[in-house]
Amino acid sequence: MKTLVTGGAGFIGSAFIRLLIAETDHRIVNLDKLTYAGNLENLAPVDGSARYRFVHGDICDGPLVESILADERPDAIVHFAAESHVDRSILSPEPVIQTNLRGTFTLLEAARKYKLDRFVHVSTDEVYGSLALPLEATEEFPLNPSSPYSASKAGSDLLARSYFVTYRLPVMITRASNNYGPYQFPEKLIPLMIANAMESRPLPVYGDGMQVRDWLYVDDHCRGILAVLGKGREGEIYNIGGNRSLPNLEVVRKVLALTGRPETLIQYVTDRPGHDRRYALSSQKLMREAGWQPATDFEAGLARTIDWYRANASWVARVRSGEYRTYYEQNYAGR
Ligand code: NAD
Ligand code: TYD
Repeated sequence: MKTLVTGGAGFIGSAFIRLLIAETDHRIVNLDKLTYAGNLENLAPVDGSARYRFVHGDICDGPLVESILADERPDAIVHFAAESHVDRSILSPEPVIQTNLRGTFTLLEAARKYKLDRFVHVSTDEVYGSLALPLEATEEFPLNPSSPYSASKAGSDLLARSYFVTYRLPVMITRASNNYGPYQFPEKLIPLMIANAMESRPLPVYGDGMQVRDWLYVDDHCRGILAVLGKGREGEIYNIGGNRSLPNLEVVRKVLALTGRPETLIQYVTDRPGHDRRYALSSQKLMREAGWQPATDFEAGLARTIDWYRANASWVARVRSGEYRTYYEQNYAGR
């Protein structure tokens, strides 16, 4: 099987490629624009594999996408490429709309033309919006996105689904909860808190810190996507949750305990505009249909993640230089 992975130099896409190389016989083409979030260092473990090829380019570039499909003739697309961060989408929505909507459209059009066998569109639980206790979103829940990021993902989900309904393109949509693990760009909650704690810098908690997220270890997510690629039914949506809901403050306290830093580093800052209070997901469908379940206990996964960041301080230093400083200043200064 040959698979075109988009956004494979990012956090989850690179974990997926490392998994495919280690545990399957897939051949892989990785199309990635190498934005601030794309990093070929994440793929060092597969570099040199005869089953892996990298193409530097934009998913919005129709002729490029078509030429890859014409040359490589992949059986499937697994589509990760996105502008993936809510805070950046609030600061500048334009690239989010371009990549997440236009880019997905470009891939769907090419997949339709070349009659691909499988198209897995990787999405998020954020499309369901904030849910009051004790609700858990099933795949039938209404879409109620709050940020430019989640709205763009909801829009791309609907577009992807329309290609199944209208053209019978074999599309499957996955909606995962918050991921964490090695190689995550330190703009998201867990790696940002680990990186700041390691340097004894303040840990910025938005609002009262009682917002709830469901934490999923990245490798469990990738195994879920692989299960959908292999066993998912065409036209279906599959939630992939970590089954571990925690308020942010509790996550931050665990990071401080595991890094041996004091809770006085916690700094409450102005809340995110439109901040969703609670996400919660039911993954019963994927469990039932594919026998998948999240295997990683949160405390064990967090400890493993912290160990990775400790052992890869030079990776952290490199990704936090340059553009990251400008972003950090823009998002946090005066908050
Ligand atoms: P990431 O920001 O770490 O990586 C995104 C990758 O996409 C980068 O390598 C970047 O260079 C690439 N990219 C961006 N724009 C591109 C373009 N126009 N053309 C080609 N490549 C482009 O993101 P991530 O956290 O790995 O998320 C991957 C996917 O999973 C996204 O679709 C995201 O919406 C979804 N998702 C993420 C989470 C999470 O917790 N991180 C949870 C659920 C779903
Ligand atoms: P994030 O990792 O950005 O993921 P998402 O917004 O997609 O869920 O944020 C996770 C939670 O952590 C969210 O409720 C916002 C909060 N948060 C902070 O309190 N401080 C921060 O510096 C960041 C980045 C996030």
